[in-house]
Amino acid sequence: MDAIAELRGKYLHQIRAAADAAALEQVRLAALGKKGEISQQMRSLGRMSADERQTAGPALNELKSEIDAALKARRAALEDASLDARLQAEWLDVTLPGRPRPRGTIHPVSQVMDELTAIFADMGFSVAEGPQIESDWYNFDALNIAPEHPSRQEMDTFYMHRDSGDNRPPHVLRTHTSPVQIRAMQDRGAPLRVIAPGRVYRMDMDQTHTPMFHQVEGLAIDRDITMAQLKWVLEEFCRAFFELDAVELRFRASHFPFTEPSAEVDIRCSWEGGQLKLGEGDDWLEILGSGMVHPHVLRSGGIDPEVWQGFAFGMGIDRIAMLKYGIPDLRAFFESDLRWLRHYGFAALDQPSLAAGLSR
Ligand code: DAH
Repeated sequence: MDAIAELRGKYLHQIRAAADAAALEQVRLAALGKKGEISQQMRSLGRMSADERQTAGPALNELKSEIDAALKARRAALEDASLDARLQAEWLDVTLPGRPRPRGTIHPVSQVMDELTAIFADMGFSVAEGPQIESDWYNFDALNIAPEHPSRQEMDTFYMHRDSGDNRPPHVLRTHTSPVQIRAMQDRGAPLRVIAPGRVYRMDMDQTHTPMFHQVEGLAIDRDITMAQLKWVLEEFCRAFFELDAVELRFRASHFPFTEPSAEVDIRCSWEGGQLKLGEGDDWLEILGSGMVHPHVLRSGGIDPEVWQGFAFGMGIDRIAMLKYGIPDLRAFFESDLRWLRHYGFAALDQPSLAAGLSR
């Protein structure tokens, strides 16, 4: 009897003292494991006399259940305590403001390229591309620009360096997107409807000129394309792009080697109070050059001018971006000043689409 009381005292104490689940398991094994003290006692019942067994049996069983219950209670208590400790340690203040993450913006030039691509795509134009380093054949000759034409002069055009003895034909940084006309004609043939937005380069630098800027070229070729369609396409474009019901365009006779006839196109505007307004007023602002594609140019592109004809235009993207978004200085476009980019940039999810409207 005493032995049982002693076991009870010993194990209840050890159970209370167990500091964690591992220590508690040790106590369990020592008491109730296969070779545990209480288990051995129970096995020894078989060697006792019937009388002894009468008293020892129930007492041992009771001890076993008592220890069992104490183990369970202690295990639960330890688990609660460790959960409490974790909750304490992993405490999180959900009311704290989130950490700001740096977020970029879409450059106005990219935004405007996306906008105009959406508008022309709606009119059936697909996007064509060409290299920024272009042979002088594509940049000039194929476009009917004569060898003595002033735009070929070193002072306008960036020529690629050639070592002496390197007799490859000259290459230039393309001075306009017009060479993409030739590439598109060669690649796709007629009929054809493409725009070609991209970077162009000229040696020029002041408030309205940077050595690199952006143009979009347009080209439509079919059997019966006329200047009336050119006018409609450009008016539709301006209406959608500038989000104006009333736009008025003025076609001024001009000259480009690659078109005949040629026209420069102005948009009606006012400068009242130093503020530019499009679509009203008595001033005109030039926004692009255009015309009917010259037969020589069609031939350079492998297209028969007896069968096909078309219109073309070239427009400054930076310029129409400045007009639409009221950006005063062209040079700021390419200075990568973060304050400017944050001010004039667009949210990444602000994707232009005709259905959603094109404005911010
Ligand atoms: N390539 C001309 C320039 O850079 C712009 C231009 C004018 C393009 C008339 C055309 C066009 O396609 O027909 O100034």
